[in-house]
Amino acid sequence: MQSGSETKIRPAEAASLREAAEILRSGGLVAFPTETVYGLGADATDDAAVAGIFAAKDRPRFNPLIVHFTDTAAAAREAVFDARAEAVAGRFWPGPLTLVLPRRHDSRLSLLCSAGLDTQAVRVPAHTLAHDLLAETGRPLAAPSANASGRISPTRAAHVAESLAGRVPLILDGGDCAVGLESTVLDLSTEKPAILRPGAVTAEDLTDLLGPLTPPQSSSGAVKAPGMLSSHYAPTKPLRLHAESAAADEALLAFGPAAPSGAAVAVNLSPSGDLAEAAARLFSALRELDESAAAGIAAMTIPEQGLGIAINDRLRRAAAPREG
Ligand code: TXA
Ligand code: MG
Repeated sequence: MQSGSETKIRPAEAASLREAAEILRSGGLVAFPTETVYGLGADATDDAAVAGIFAAKDRPRFNPLIVHFTDTAAAAREAVFDARAEAVAGRFWPGPLTLVLPRRHDSRLSLLCSAGLDTQAVRVPAHTLAHDLLAETGRPLAAPSANASGRISPTRAAHVAESLAGRVPLILDGGDCAVGLESTVLDLSTEKPAILRPGAVTAEDLTDLLGPLTPPQSSSGAVKAPGMLSSHYAPTKPLRLHAESAAADEALLAFGPAAPSGAAVAVNLSPSGDLAEAAARLFSALRELDESAAAGIAAMTIPEQGLGIAINDRLRRAAAPREG
């Protein structure tokens, strides 16, 4: 679509699904909700459609895309599942987990989806609307998070519109995303499984199927998933970590019952200290504080356990020095 054209936001109903599937089958883009974040979808078997995703997001070409399927059998037509992949998919799909697997030689997916690698990232999302859209379209859908490249991922339809208005003809509105953080990316393309991006499916969750796994150290600077540049997920204001209180000109990103009062602008991710609630609210809270009059954002410490590992990964990236 031409930049500046209209973007429609449609509720979750049969007519919108049909309209969305028609756009996708004719090579267009549709933003849709998943349980993690909203995705910017295109027919993964259509080179021109997939190229349209990169153009709409201003995304570097080298960053490969996750392809979404209705079920494991559909994913197994495009990527090679070994016994580990079958076990993990059996346990966690549909759900917030992406598997990086060897690409099948007879895969019909556009080579742009793997951006020159011989692996393909695949996922079966749990959100009903995502599932219904995949089924109605009848094609696998390539979908990165539906934000301009390098910005915070969208967890509601309005976030997508803020970032991509005029660049996508249709946004399906499924309300707030239940998980609120992007999927765990698990690399099973090599002998030693590795978590490339922490998410709601944690290293501990995977241990009994795969043995002990170490989550990536996002401070190490090593970039294994090409899209995991250290300054990803950036708000426009500077973000300070491990704050105990906010300075006069800072907005406070608080967590837990012991949050200090007195900040002019504050959002508590979870007053009761619940990590799942904090994850679901993280990106909308960062947006809200970023839009405030404050000069910077002060983020309190989140416990480095369970879902807290994924939350801290996103916060460290949001606080990292900006690249270019
Ligand atoms: O929750 C999610 O995963 C959302 C929803 C829409 O599914 N999608 C998402 O996509 O976050 P994206 O493109 O924003 O992030 C995908 C991450 C990137 O860091 C990318 O580099 C990595 O997965 N990735 C994709 N394909 C890969 C591959 N073949 N090998 C290694 N990393 C890969
Ligand atoms: Mg993204």
